[in-house]
Amino acid sequence: MCWNKSVTTPIFNAEYRNHQKWRKEIDLWSLLCFFVHRYKNHKTMANPKKLVGEKAAEYVKNGMKVGLGTGSTASFAIQALGTMVQNGLKITCFPTSVASGELAESLSIPLMEEHEVSKLDITIDGADEVDPDKNLIKGGGGALLREKIIGAISDQYIIIIDESKKVNRLGAFTVPVEVVPFVWEV
Ligand code: A5P
Repeated sequence: MCWNKSVTTPIFNAEYRNHQKWRKEIDLWSLLCFFVHRYKNHKTMANPKKLVGEKAAEYVKNGMKVGLGTGSTASFAIQALGTMVQNGLKITCFPTSVASGELAESLSIPLMEEHEVSKLDITIDGADEVDPDKNLIKGGGGALLREKIIGAISDQYIIIIDESKKVNRLGAFTVPVEVVPFVWEV
């Protein structure tokens, strides 16, 4: 029997094509499994920022004046408060930043005017770094002065963080500095 190239090559090519097709199917299958796995994990794994945000919101009671922090973690607390307000909680809030104020407004959370704020019952905010003695770096979200003032006039000041914020020594996160134009030359 004589197999010349013109016969064997098409057979080889067909096998090769089959092999490539098979590989493609395996690859697509792995990719699909990966996304299903990711989706399942995403559905079952709780977001720690959301968990602490919702937990902190439980400390807010009817009639309280509430300071609203800034950042992704504090946003979860604001969203939880929005739900509580929709369910009848009566509070008035003051945001530490424009972004938090806009989020609160979008959730129909009642906000105080600047001249109405003198004392707050509670403030919930995030942090950029926390050391074992609970010293903090804050202000990375760009609300440094405002959040310090609001924290200072709050009876309770709840800082919410996830594991990523815990450090042995502060300083890996650059310390934010805010320059306030008001009488800056003094
Ligand atoms: C606001 O200026 C900061 O102090 C924030 O609290 C801080 O940046 C935390 O933000 P994330 O929760 O987004 O990490």
